[in-house]
Amino acid sequence: MKISVIGTGYVGLVTGTCFAEAGNDVTLVDIIQEKVDKINRGVTPIYEEGLEDMLKSNLERKRLRATLDIREAILGSEVTFISVGTPSKEDGSIDLKYIEQAARDIGAVLKDKEGYHVVVVKSTVVPGTTEDVVTPAIEEASGKKAGEGFGVCMNPEFLKEGKAVEDFMKPDRIVIGQLDERSGDVINRLYGSFNAPIIRTTTRTAEMIKYAANAFLAAKIGMINEIGNLCKRLGIDTNEVANGIGHDTRIGHQFLRSGIGFGGSCFPKDVKALIAKSRETGYEPVILDHIIKMNEMQPLQIFELLKRKMPQLSGKTIAVLGLAFKADTDDIRESPALKIVDALLKEGAGIRAYDPKAMDSFRKEFPGITYCGSAAEAISGSDACLILTDWKEFDFSDKDFESMSNKLILEGRKILKKEKVPLVEGVCW
Ligand code: NAD
Ligand code: UGA
Repeated sequence: MKISVIGTGYVGLVTGTCFAEAGNDVTLVDIIQEKVDKINRGVTPIYEEGLEDMLKSNLERKRLRATLDIREAILGSEVTFISVGTPSKEDGSIDLKYIEQAARDIGAVLKDKEGYHVVVVKSTVVPGTTEDVVTPAIEEASGKKAGEGFGVCMNPEFLKEGKAVEDFMKPDRIVIGQLDERSGDVINRLYGSFNAPIIRTTTRTAEMIKYAANAFLAAKIGMINEIGNLCKRLGIDTNEVANGIGHDTRIGHQFLRSGIGFGGSCFPKDVKALIAKSRETGYEPVILDHIIKMNEMQPLQIFELLKRKMPQLSGKTIAVLGLAFKADTDDIRESPALKIVDALLKEGAGIRAYDPKAMDSFRKEFPGITYCGSAAEAISGSDACLILTDWKEFDFSDKDFESMSNKLILEGRKILKKEKVPLVEGVCW
């Protein structure tokens, strides 16, 4: 199939590259020249395991290209995915300005396109957006009626950063919300070669499935962190408790890693958007509200643990290992490390930071701290070491910490093994 994808961020680039890998002809569109140029040179603007090789091989096979020209992309395709960002506004509600702009841009091209075209919303949008915002914007700009000149679907994306390619190629399920049967059939065919259950539903339900999934996962993390904070005070290792409850298949082992809270571009913003949408309907969301409150205080648990061990932080040097919101990504959006570094600086501590992929982005937020070329360099001479991201390369042994001035090692994500580093203490273990 001939596909165009609007927005080449984490979702758009992965979606486009994976559809090309599956044998489709894909044109990626962005408004940022630098991203388009990089993609066409076979360089991914983001770090995502396995993506660059896949991008290169599909560029070589001429199944993939990037452009600034939305007209050329839409006129040369049958299906257009919208995967632009949907950030939070100040009040937590969803900001649809990029989606609205993309819908208008698509509509303006569809005005001059002959034949049926399917527009698919892949961005995460609150229930009702595809039907009440995207569709009317395309209708107005194109002068065509949805279901006649063009079709509309909502196909939420469930990939995780760091495992994006694998998640996209081997999804647990594919959800297709359709405004009209014909466009639903087209998207169903597009996913025909993917080995996953396909759920066909309305666009509103598809939108809600996405938010419900993220809210459930965020709640699961919030719950294990609450248990974890309590375990810490009772001298219990939460990881053992998580293992104990995870064997109950109704609970399951996944997403039971306690620590410094969830970050990233989606859980915080999506739960907040659902809260705002909920309030709009007059329903006060009790649990969703507390998931956010709980998560906002969770990063500081490790700071408070450090303060209990080292009450005077002023003038001390703290090694901070891991700045990304999770391992295997360069993304620092809502990373717990941002709050922790800020708290340390306010106490007058000096910081020696290291992350394998996220230092360039972190430097933009905190230009004044010391960035090191390796974990060993950050650790050397420090008075305490905080591990904030569970990068595999941080799975150290005791000897790796020998160069510290004072061996105080605390982790906010479980990566060290007690048998290899007996002194380590975790935020919830
Ligand atoms: P992102 O910010 O990384 O990328 C968005 C891209 O869209 C940018 O490159 C931007 O330049 C481009 N863009 C904006 N307006 C445009 C326009 N009018 N025309 C062309 N390009 C335009 O965002 P992301 O992380 O890929 O997320 C995109 C959407 O997918 C969001 O709704 C997000 O909630 C959802 N989502 C993200 C993930 C994830 O892991 N990041 C997973 C599932 C769903
Ligand atoms: C999450 C979801 O897992 C994806 O299914 C979804 O598509 C995506 O959001 C989205 O909508 O954008 P992502 O944010 O990339 O994916 O990463 P996760 O692996 O879910 O981690 C999110 C945060 O939760 C990270 O900070 C991670 O460290 C934290 N986490 C995760 C925990 O604290 N404990 C866990 O057990 C799991």
